[in-house]
Amino acid sequence: MDDTVVGSFTGKVALVTGASSGLGRAVAQALTDRGAQVFGVARDGDALRRTMIEIAGSDGAKRYAPADVASSVACTAAVDSCVSTLGGLDVLVNVAGAHTLRHSADVTDEDWARDLAVNLNGPFYLARAALPHLLARGGNIVNVASVAGLEGQAYSAGYCAAKHGLVGLTRAMALEFTGTSLRINAICPGGMMTPQVTNFAFPEGVDFELVMKSAAPRGLMEPGDVAKMVAFLASDDASAVHGAVYAVDNGKMA
Ligand SMILES: NC(=O)c1ccc[n+]([C@@H]2O[C@H](COP(=O)([O-])OP(=O)(O)OC[C@H]3O[C@@H](n4cnc5c(N)ncnc54)[C@H](O)[C@@H]3O)[C@@H](O)[C@H]2O)c1
Repeated sequence: MDDTVVGSFTGKVALVTGASSGLGRAVAQALTDRGAQVFGVARDGDALRRTMIEIAGSDGAKRYAPADVASSVACTAAVDSCVSTLGGLDVLVNVAGAHTLRHSADVTDEDWARDLAVNLNGPFYLARAALPHLLARGGNIVNVASVAGLEGQAYSAGYCAAKHGLVGLTRAMALEFTGTSLRINAICPGGMMTPQVTNFAFPEGVDFELVMKSAAPRGLMEPGDVAKMVAFLASDDASAVHGAVYAVDNGKMA
């Protein structure tokens, strides 16, 4: 924990998707360390419950909702559950993501639909459900896109299209809410050492040099390092930051 920032989220409620693993877990930990009451959302209920208890102790057992962010009904229910459990919502962090690595010719309708549903539809459904609560408390949204939202990535057509879409969604909503206290920003991480990457199933015949071009020039980052940027953007220290899209990639886009 960084002692210089303790308390910057005291009294604030943050809903973090993808909180059971990787970057989402690191964000949930970083915001909890800084005084937030974090409500976790992810697909896998058991892992999520375990993680929330590890992060927030016995309180964590009440602060989570398993949900498939591909479903608008589940997203609305998750926001409702957060608000009824913790009394409101100040910060939404859309971290949950899925990445199909496949030759474009082999991508099935289901692959394509899943990449778009999890990485793009989910953040929109959650933002839409959270808006009245965030507007009521001068809150903010941080969307986790990817460097794949700023440039191409081989064998990742659906993921890349969805992450570019999430960058566009962030900018469009930021302009729409310019006249309000709501802030909306996005980060575009480069390669991180998380289960998403360690579990990659590479299709046969991939050009690894091409894959490495889309990866990390200085090695994979730790999710905790990227979570610090999310915590900054979600905090009042970033009060002048709205509609911004930041690469957090250890030099990938340089
Ligand atoms: N790992 C990287 O190198 C990297 C690079 C750039 C961007 N990202 C992005 O960072 C985010 C976090 O990735 P990670 O590496 O921590 O992955 P991860 O696989 O460790 O965690 C993914 C999380 O998303 C949740 N999730 C997946 N599908 C879901 C669904 N349908 N509904 C609800 N929750 C769902 C999982 O339960 C899990 O909590 C993702 O948006 C990912 O695209 C990751």
